[in-house]
Amino acid sequence: MTVLPPLPFRVFANPRAGTPGTVVLTEAGFRRARAEITSWPGYAPTPLLDLPWVAEAAGVASVQIKDEGGRFGLGSFKALGGAYAVEQVLIGYLARRGLELTANAADLTGGRYAEATRQVTVTCATDGNHGRSVAWGAQRFGCRCVIYVHETVSQGRVDAIARYGAEVRRVPGTYDDAVRAAAAEAEAKGWFVVSDTSWPGYTSIPVDVMQGYRLMADEAVEQWSGGAPTHAFVQGGVGGVAAAVSVQLRARYSPAPALVVVEPDRAACLLASAETGVPTAIAGDLNTLMAGLACGEPSLLAWQELERATAAFMAVPDDAAVACMKLMFAHGAIIGESGVAGLAGLLLAAADPAAREALGLTTDSRVLLFGTEGATDQALFNRLVHGRGA
Ligand SMILES: Cc1ncc(COP(=O)(O)O)c(C=O)c1O
Repeated sequence: MTVLPPLPFRVFANPRAGTPGTVVLTEAGFRRARAEITSWPGYAPTPLLDLPWVAEAAGVASVQIKDEGGRFGLGSFKALGGAYAVEQVLIGYLARRGLELTANAADLTGGRYAEATRQVTVTCATDGNHGRSVAWGAQRFGCRCVIYVHETVSQGRVDAIARYGAEVRRVPGTYDDAVRAAAAEAEAKGWFVVSDTSWPGYTSIPVDVMQGYRLMADEAVEQWSGGAPTHAFVQGGVGGVAAAVSVQLRARYSPAPALVVVEPDRAACLLASAETGVPTAIAGDLNTLMAGLACGEPSLLAWQELERATAAFMAVPDDAAVACMKLMFAHGAIIGESGVAGLAGLLLAAADPAAREALGLTTDSRVLLFGTEGATDQALFNRLVHGRGA
């Protein structure tokens, strides 16, 4: 039974899958992230939903999706990463100033070092969700925050960031241009860049961001019911969340599920990197509805994990994402446009005999998906799903 119309997509089986590589995220680092984040007020695991109708449509044994829409009231899994990295920036700052060597979240939220942390400014570029997390973390842990967005980030997303007291600056160009603008201003002013992407010489803060993301996959493993997943489909922007999922699934399962990374066809920089064999930036305006995935350059660290741990890369069109949002909504779940790419990849591949074969999907497959956001821009969600509003 097909539930998606036939839409064009690409699959690239990764020739380097399974080769040895660098340890990008340590286990000790994850234990620390998990201990901190689960201690934050309001922490609760997000649900893992069973999707028997997707399993039936895809001709596989089972499909379960982690629904991140309720994460800390921020609407996406990103709440785990940026805010945790802000906490670590402030803890490091207090230690370097000799004020406190082992501060934790409670020290910061309790205001013990508020006078010192107020001197700190954190900044980043965002398409919405990461900036919301950094702004929320800055408010929660007590420092100043300036967020850069590119021209096509919706006003709804900007307002959601500003609500946490951050100053939001809009710059021309794409997400990658906003990354460069934030980095330049931080360099000039002595601010801390809390980026969700990494580049040569800038890796320690993105490591904390990705360690935070791992908690999403860790919870999913705890909640998973039935035989271990055989496949995990996860969407890719710069690759950070896919890499975090990959590391965590490899840490928890042996053999690890086959990881399929799914990107918008207009911003498939990870697929391009797999094809060339080196991290590859792609040209173009990256104009996809899947705003959170509109990234043209892979994160260096994420790539180091994904280049050897990803079974296959896929690129899917915007129409598939919209169709999946509608399908999920019709079945009672609210997943936003950047959160459904993995589902779109599964449904498109499952209906295509060659892709099915390339990914090793069979009637015995058990598939884990990540609905990485809810309706993070309600007006856009209404327009895409209900065909109304701005
Ligand atoms: C909802 C959502 N899903 C997935 C991603 C992709 O994450 P990454 O850029 O780490 O690959 C993003 C990034 O902003 C996002 O907002």
